[in-house]
Amino acid sequence: KEDDSAGDSAGSGGGKKITLGFSQVGSESGWRTANSESVKSAAKEAGYTLKFSDAQQKQENQISAIRNYIAQKVDVIAFSPVVVTGWDAVLKEAKAAKIPVVLTDRSVETSDDSLYVTLVGSDFTDEGRRAAKILEKVIEKAGLKGNVKIAQLEGTTGAAPAIERAKGFKEVMDAEHKDDWKIVVSQTGDFTRAGGKQVMAAFLQSNPDINVLFAHNDDMAIGAIQSIEAAGKKPGKDILIVSIDGVKDGFVAMSEGKINAIVECNPLLGPQLMEVVKTVHDGGTVERWIKTKEGDFMQDQAKAALPTRKY
Ligand code: AHR
Repeated sequence: KEDDSAGDSAGSGGGKKITLGFSQVGSESGWRTANSESVKSAAKEAGYTLKFSDAQQKQENQISAIRNYIAQKVDVIAFSPVVVTGWDAVLKEAKAAKIPVVLTDRSVETSDDSLYVTLVGSDFTDEGRRAAKILEKVIEKAGLKGNVKIAQLEGTTGAAPAIERAKGFKEVMDAEHKDDWKIVVSQTGDFTRAGGKQVMAAFLQSNPDINVLFAHNDDMAIGAIQSIEAAGKKPGKDILIVSIDGVKDGFVAMSEGKINAIVECNPLLGPQLMEVVKTVHDGGTVERWIKTKEGDFMQDQAKAALPTRKY
């Protein structure tokens, strides 16, 4: 799916407008919707011509969108890769065409670091660590003693946030909770509400004694809440829930007592991305990884924070 959203004014330098080809992962979550809107409005604000396409969570769609942008000779290509591997060939084609590539949100594994200029996005491993640290507080507050049985709802298989959030969480668990925490089930819910709902229902069948859910995003947690309630249990009480993102619906669930804590992952990357695109286009240098600043929220902060949430 491709849509061309043209900015209406000239770029900040007053010269020829920058044409940016952007390949989005999909529209799988509230986070993604906010991210797409941020990219579109920031491109408009910057006065760029934006060519935007939605890959519907399929790598082959992203590869053909990038090939299209190369054929159209855009000035810069930006994309949020659905998975980490399998990009070398198309990135080499962009390099051969002398079109700089900027990654946003998610990283890739490449054999050649020169195939992309920078990544504008979050530190997902740290988000996983922060999720484990905030879970310690949630457990203490709930008075749960020993025997923490965790269900993990993973993001899309092979995607950087799924791999790295699981890694960061496990790192803290192995270092500090070898004896008292255990991940009893872990499966992908593909970052969607429907996925979270379906997989959580199966988890509850196979492991009815789960007392913690770690969901790699709010949408899967919200889907899981429906299955927890359908099983006659109270989300946030019988099953403590920590998730990642901080979208409005996540904050609503938290203010209703159904999610216990949220680790923020900021999707509003548009303005920063446009600055980077300009610098790269003008031949300037940028840092290899431009990290996003984020916070953590416990349930008792949810009501006060809800009106200020921007996504
Ligand atoms: O890559 C960021 C992740 O992708 C978000 O946490 C998730 O909601 C989205 O689908």
